Amino acid sequence: MKLCVIGTGYVGLVGAAIFSDWGNHVTGVDIDEKKISRIQKGDMPIYEPGLSEIVLNNIKEGRLKFTTSIAEGMKDAEIIFICVGTPQSETGAADLSAVWAVAKEISNHLTDYKVIVTKSTVPVGTNQKVKEIILENLKSDVEFDVASNPEFLREGSSVEDMKDTDRTIVGSESEKAFKTMRRLYEHLGSPIIECDLRSAEMIKYASNAFLATKISFINEIAQICERAQADVSVVAKGMGLDRRIGSAFLNAGIGYGGSCFPKDVAALYKTSTDQAYDFKLLRSVMEVNLIQQFNFINKARKYYGSEIHGKVFGCLGLSFKGDTDDIRESVSIDVIEHLRGLGAKLKVYDPEAMENAKKVLGEESIEYCKSEYDAATGVDALFVLTEWSQFKSMDLFRLKENMKYPVIFDGRNLLDKSAVEGIGFTYFAIGKYTNGVKSIHEKNDVYSSAVLKNGH
Ligand SMILES: NC(=O)c1ccc[n+]([C@@H]2O[C@H](COP(=O)([O-])OP(=O)(O)OC[C@H]3O[C@@H](n4cnc5c(N)ncnc54)[C@H](O)[C@@H]3O)[C@@H](O)[C@H]2O)c1
Repeated sequence: MKLCVIGTGYVGLVGAAIFSDWGNHVTGVDIDEKKISRIQKGDMPIYEPGLSEIVLNNIKEGRLKFTTSIAEGMKDAEIIFICVGTPQSETGAADLSAVWAVAKEISNHLTDYKVIVTKSTVPVGTNQKVKEIILENLKSDVEFDVASNPEFLREGSSVEDMKDTDRTIVGSESEKAFKTMRRLYEHLGSPIIECDLRSAEMIKYASNAFLATKISFINEIAQICERAQADVSVVAKGMGLDRRIGSAFLNAGIGYGGSCFPKDVAALYKTSTDQAYDFKLLRSVMEVNLIQQFNFINKARKYYGSEIHGKVFGCLGLSFKGDTDDIRESVSIDVIEHLRGLGAKLKVYDPEAMENAKKVLGEESIEYCKSEYDAATGVDALFVLTEWSQFKSMDLFRLKENMKYPVIFDGRNLLDKSAVEGIGFTYFAIGKYTNGVKSIHEKNDVYSSAVLKNGH
């Protein structure tokens, strides 16, 4: 099939690459000239495991090309995918300006039947409006259909996710569009849910909101575990083995971030209020997520009393999660900014997100380090902020040797508590009893024993 993918970011670039790898002829289009020229040279603008090889191979095979011209990209294409960003606007709603702009541009160049598919995450009613915009701006009487095909890939494993999807959602009003979409996807063998446009749009938001709810739920359980001296990791394991619950998204931590969950949860909440309904559970999900970050920072504030000013902290992880360079809405970045605001100096390291983070954090009170061990050298404490697997397997003895004081605040429950404590670290994790320090929620004097124990 001949396909056009508009917007070559995390979704569009991976989508274009995988579609071409399936044997289709794909043209990726983006408004960003620098991005297109980098991709054309084989230099990926994003870090995504396995992506570069697939893009380069399919360019070489002549199945994949890139352009900044929508007219050129959509010529001869049977399906046009809209994969542009839909960031959060000031009201909490999704900013759909890029979707509207692309719809208008498509209508200017539509000369034969095509299915125009929105892959971007868009609120209920958006595809209907895309159809209206195209109808209003069409230059001639051309037949077309719109379809909704939300994307469920996860950054960090998006190549695998697209190849091996649990299900494909296609919303449309047209059997012809369903047939075209089936030709693209049915070889995957996983279920294709064909439904109306509005339900397809809602499935995406409901899915992300549910996953965010799981995260906030386990973070609330973590709060109780800390106070009741239970271990949230054990609790989550015990819960997750129940097939009705499942273990995914049950890792307690410093809250969800990234380019999707925060904006999608906010947008769904906005949709609910627009429909004169107060989605109370979702309001709590957002509130818990924010509080979780402050609870973590409060552990350090309580441990150090008023003495955070001038402390040097190592910070491991800048991206919003492991295996990506994406720092959009990264909780790690928020925590680092907060600690800097309290007067701390930060030594930071991330395997892939250093360049992106530099643009946001700048240089003030921040030293960008070459490795996790470099970031740990001479520090008063180490903050684990992103769940990169290389941090999980750090040499703890080397780490301890490098640090000024052996104190770890683990915001992702990444390290093995007994191993860390066994070699003499004071270890603060999420939803766990800490080192004979009865509870981080008790008075400051409880911490002074831990402080004395570790020689502060
Ligand atoms: N990132 C994810 O993990 C993920 C997963 C599922 C769904 N989504 C959804 O997919 C959509 C895209 O997300 P993303 O992370 O790929 O965004 P992104 O910001 O990485 O990429 C969007 C791209 O669209 C381009 N663009 C903007 N306006 C354009 C225009 N008028 N013409 C051509 N190109 C234009 C931008 O230059 C950019 O390269 C969003 O709605 C997002 O919510 C994202």
